[in-house]
Amino acid sequence: MARPKDEVRIGVIGYGAMGKAHAYGYTAAPVIRRLPVNPKLAVMSGRNENAVAAASVAYGFESWTTDWRSIIERPDIDIVDICTPPGAHAEIVQAAASSGKAVFCEKPLSVSVASARAAVDAVKKNGVLNAIGFNYRRLPAVALMKQLVQNGEVGDVLLWRGIWLSDEFLDPTIPFDWRFDRQMGGTTIGDLGSHLVDMAEWMIGPVAEVSAQSATFIAQRSGPGGRGTVPVGIDDASSALIRFANGARGVMEVARTCARRPCDFTVEVNGTLGTLVFDYTRLNELQIGRVDDDALFYGRRTVRAEHPSHPYAGDWWAIGQGVGYGSSFVNFFADLLQAWPEGPWSPGLEDGLRVQVVCDAMERSVEERRWVTIGS
Ligand SMILES: NC(=O)c1ccc[n+]([C@@H]2O[C@H](COP(=O)([O-])OP(=O)(O)OC[C@H]3O[C@@H](n4cnc5c(N)ncnc54)[C@H](O)[C@@H]3O)[C@@H](O)[C@H]2O)c1
Repeated sequence: MARPKDEVRIGVIGYGAMGKAHAYGYTAAPVIRRLPVNPKLAVMSGRNENAVAAASVAYGFESWTTDWRSIIERPDIDIVDICTPPGAHAEIVQAAASSGKAVFCEKPLSVSVASARAAVDAVKKNGVLNAIGFNYRRLPAVALMKQLVQNGEVGDVLLWRGIWLSDEFLDPTIPFDWRFDRQMGGTTIGDLGSHLVDMAEWMIGPVAEVSAQSATFIAQRSGPGGRGTVPVGIDDASSALIRFANGARGVMEVARTCARRPCDFTVEVNGTLGTLVFDYTRLNELQIGRVDDDALFYGRRTVRAEHPSHPYAGDWWAIGQGVGYGSSFVNFFADLLQAWPEGPWSPGLEDGLRVQVVCDAMERSVEERRWVTIGS
C-alpha cells in the first residue's frame, strides 16, 4: 500500500515507563497542535514477548518485535526512539544513525563520556536529526523561566539551585535491577542530575567547575529471584557545588532515598533584579519576586504559566485547567514533528554529551575528593 506522504513512521525501542510516555506524546501531539506531518506508531520493541505485545496493542502500535535491530533495518521507519536503560543507548544510536534514521534518545545519553561521544559522532557523521529526552524544558513554566532569565527579567544571575528528591531507593528490600548497575543505569548524578544540569546550562550557561559528594546507604541488594546479594554500584544521594563560567554559583542535590518525596524537584535562580522559583509539585506555576515590586508586595508572586502568551500554553486547554508531566512529551514531539524533516531539533545529542561531561566531572570529584574543572 502506498505510504501517505505526510506520514512520519516511528519505531520505539523499550516499552517501559518511557515507551509509554513517548507513545502518549506522539499520539497527542497532532491533537494539541496542527502539524505538517502525521506521526504513526509503526513498531515497538522489547525483550519480553508477552509484555511488548500487550504494550504495543495498548499504546496503538501497528506491530511489535523482540529484536530492536529489525526496527533499524526496516526501510519504512523514519525515527528511532530509544527508551531503554542508559547503558543500551549508545549502541542503538550508532546503529540507527548508520541506517540514516532520525534519532530520539532518552536521557542520560549514555553511562560514560566515551560512549556518549561515539553516539554524537555517529549522528554527526550520518547527518541525521537527533534529540535527547530532556523533556522538562518543554513544561510551560520551565520554558517561561528560561525566557525570563534570558530576557534579563531577574538581572545578572548570581545563584542557581537545583534539588531533586525521590524515595525510589529507600526500601532496602527492593531487589537489584538495572538502575543499581553503573554499567547499565549510570549513577543518580547521571539519572536525576542530568535533567538538572541540562536545565542549569540551558538557563545560566556552561558549568566551569564542580565539587561533589556521594553516599550509598544501601550497599547490597537481593539478586535475581531473591537469591544472594549483589553490590550496589551507584550513589543513592549526591550533592555538588557548581561554578558557572559566567561567575554565577550553584548548588545541586539529587537523592533517591528521601521518604515520601516521590519525584520532587525545584529549580531556583537568584539574580541582581529578582528571584525565580519553579516547584514541580506545582508545575503550572512560576514564582517571581522582583526588587522593583512595591514593598507592599514584598516576597514572591505566583504566575500561572497558562496564559496564551506563555510558552506552549496556547496549544492547550483554556486558562485555569493546567497541564501535567505528559504534556512535556506532547510539546516536545510537536516541536520535533513541526520541524520535520529539515530540523533543527533541540536539545540534540551534543547537549546530552555536554551534560554527560558535567555529570562525569561530578563523579570524578567524588572519587578524587577535589574540585574538577570541566574538560580537564
Ligand atoms: N525523561 C524522563 O522523564 C524519564 C523518566 C524515567 C526514565 N527516563 C529514562 O528513560 C530510559 C528508560 O527508562 P524506563 O523508566 O522507561 O525503564 P523501564 O525499565 O521501565 O523500561 C526499560 C525498557 O528497556 C528494555 N530493555 C532493558 N534492557 C535492555 C537492553 N539491554 N537492550 C534493549 N532493551 C532493553 C526493557 O525491555 C524495557 O522495555 C532511561 O534512560 C531512563 O533514564 C526518562
